[in-house]
Order: sequence, then structure tokens, then C-alpha cells
Amino acid sequence: MPYPDKILLNDPLDMHLHLRDGEMLRRIAPLSAHTFSGAIVMPNLVPPVTDKKALVDYKARIEDAVGNTPFSPYMTLFFKPDYDMAFLSEMREHLSAIKLYPAGITTNSEGGVSSFDIDALRPTLEAMSALEIPLCVHGETDGFVMDREAQFVPIYERLAEAFPELTIVMEHITTKESVAALDRYENLYATITLHHLYITLDDVAGGLLRPHLFCKPIAKRPEDKEALLRVALEAHPKVMFGSDSAPHPKEAKESYGCAAGVFTAPIALQALAQLFETHDAPLENLQAFVSDNAKRIYGVTPPKKEVVLTKRPTEVPAEYGGVVPMFAEERLTFAIEEIIDG
Ligand code: NCD
Ligand code: ZN
Repeated sequence: MPYPDKILLNDPLDMHLHLRDGEMLRRIAPLSAHTFSGAIVMPNLVPPVTDKKALVDYKARIEDAVGNTPFSPYMTLFFKPDYDMAFLSEMREHLSAIKLYPAGITTNSEGGVSSFDIDALRPTLEAMSALEIPLCVHGETDGFVMDREAQFVPIYERLAEAFPELTIVMEHITTKESVAALDRYENLYATITLHHLYITLDDVAGGLLRPHLFCKPIAKRPEDKEALLRVALEAHPKVMFGSDSAPHPKEAKESYGCAAGVFTAPIALQALAQLFETHDAPLENLQAFVSDNAKRIYGVTPPKKEVVLTKRPTEVPAEYGGVVPMFAEERLTFAIEEIIDG
């Protein structure tokens, strides 16, 4: 049977998004709000979001940037080992998750965690578990760059065992080892990006160096990409789409010392449609991967939005206000035809 040339997606969600702040926020937030119903918003601002005022004010700036478009920013706090029960109880209604970064592992993560000794992390993790606040983790050690994520899997396992009631989301997984860990622990979940479903390290550095594909975690081997594709295309019930769209100004990417991050938000749904078509994967799995699984795992009810995609080759712009997207100046096979809010 030919693949449908019209695809309807209901309430798409991006469960890992960098919206930045200031002028960049105003430029890029409307692009996500246009096509997505909501997103988990990362807290790695400078300085990171670690208190109530910073979080509530940041949410207000996002809402302001988005205007009247229905879009829920699901806010996160930057993990600190010593948040106490009183503080987190007060924060509960304002946040959807807490994001843990190992110190210095990626953009603006200097204030992250430097020891994964469970007892040192216990005050915050115990309170999170009791309050049912999901823990989102950037799972990389400071080892050799290609091995960092696989080396982190035992840490995920220790966390999952020590806090069996805690929902732990392995963010932007890139390896077959992380995929395998999903099924070993009931409380482990994962997000998968668009770019890690399309590229391997070969695309980043196998020919000419492609700075716009450079990100953390770095794209891995073909067998890793295959493992990610399998669980995304089958819409494994513990896997959610999280773009990790991470805009940097063009000058910061095309420079000596390229910043890590791939900008995908405005082309993500089109490229996902193309991916599912290429692999002849069922459309109900695409719906589950970009929305239904996340609604169930996070227990969210985002504003209604129906996105209509049609098969029509379209060229991706060279940049969006000084930020170069993935697939810039290339053609995608699906285009957004219509978006019906409400
Ligand atoms: C992200 C960013 O730029 O904030 N960069 C990236 O390469 N993914 C941070 C992150 O999620 O690691
Ligand atoms: Zn990220």
C-alpha cells in the first residue's frame, strides 16, 4: 500500500527543548509554539534556573514570546543535590521535572552534579520521588567522548534501583546500551531526538566537518542509530520524542570552538513524517512517539492542536533569524499544510 500523502498529528509534544532567553527566546519560541502543543523546557540558562522566582519569571517570558498561540511550556528546575522537601513541595505546582546535568558536560552545565554518590543526591531524589516529580538526566560521564553514554548506564541502574518510585527519563539517548536499559527497569524512560534518528558520527566528522550537526551527546555508530530507530518507529511505550533543539547563533557554530547543539524545532515534524515514510512505519506509531506516550508518562493534557502534513517537497530555509537549522537548504518530502488550534 502506498504511504499516505496526508498525515494528521494531534497535540505534538517536544519533551526536551532549549528555548534560551532574551532576543533568542523571542525569535525561536514562536517556531516551537506554532507546531507543538507543549514542550519540556530545559533550565540551562546563565545562570541556571534554580529557584522559584527564576522559574516563574522565565515561564512568563516564554508565554510573552509565544503570544496568543496555544502552547504549554512545561518548566524544569536545574538539579541541585540539596533541594529539600519544603522547597520542592512549594515548587511542585510550577514544574514538570527536574533536570540533572553532570558538571561541565555540555552547554551551561558548570553548576551540575560532580559526584554520583547516591547518598549525596538522596535529599533531592527522595523528595522528588515522594512528590512524584520526574527526574530528567543528561547521562554522560567525563570519559572518552564515544563511550560517555554507555559508561553512564550503570549510574542510571543505580538510580533506578535506589529510587524505584522515581520516574527517570534518560534524555536524548544515542546508544544501543541505553535502549537495552529501558526494558530492564520499570522506572526508566527515554527521549530520542530527531537528529540521532538521522545521523551517525560519520555525518558529523566523516567527511568535511559539519558544525551544525555537532551536539552532546555526539552522534554514535550505525548500530546505535538502528537501535534508536527500532524503538522510535515501533513507538516503544517508554520512549518519547524530545528534539533537544538547541539553537546557537551561526557565528558560535561556524567558529573555532563550535558550540554543541542542533537546531531542529521548526523542521522536526516534517522530518519525522519523512522518516516514518522512509521506513514505512505505521502512522499511529508516529502519533504515539510525538504525543501519546509523553501524555501518559508525564500525565499532561496540552492544548489541542491538529497539524496537517502533506507530501510536498519543500526547501528548508538557510537560517531562521541567524540560526542554521538541520537540513538547511535541503529538501524535505513533507510540508506543514495547516495547523488547527483548539
Ligand atoms: C544543549 C544546549 O546547547 O543547551 N546542547 C546540546 O548539544 N545538546 C545542551 C544539552 O542538552 O546537552
Ligand atoms: Zn538538551
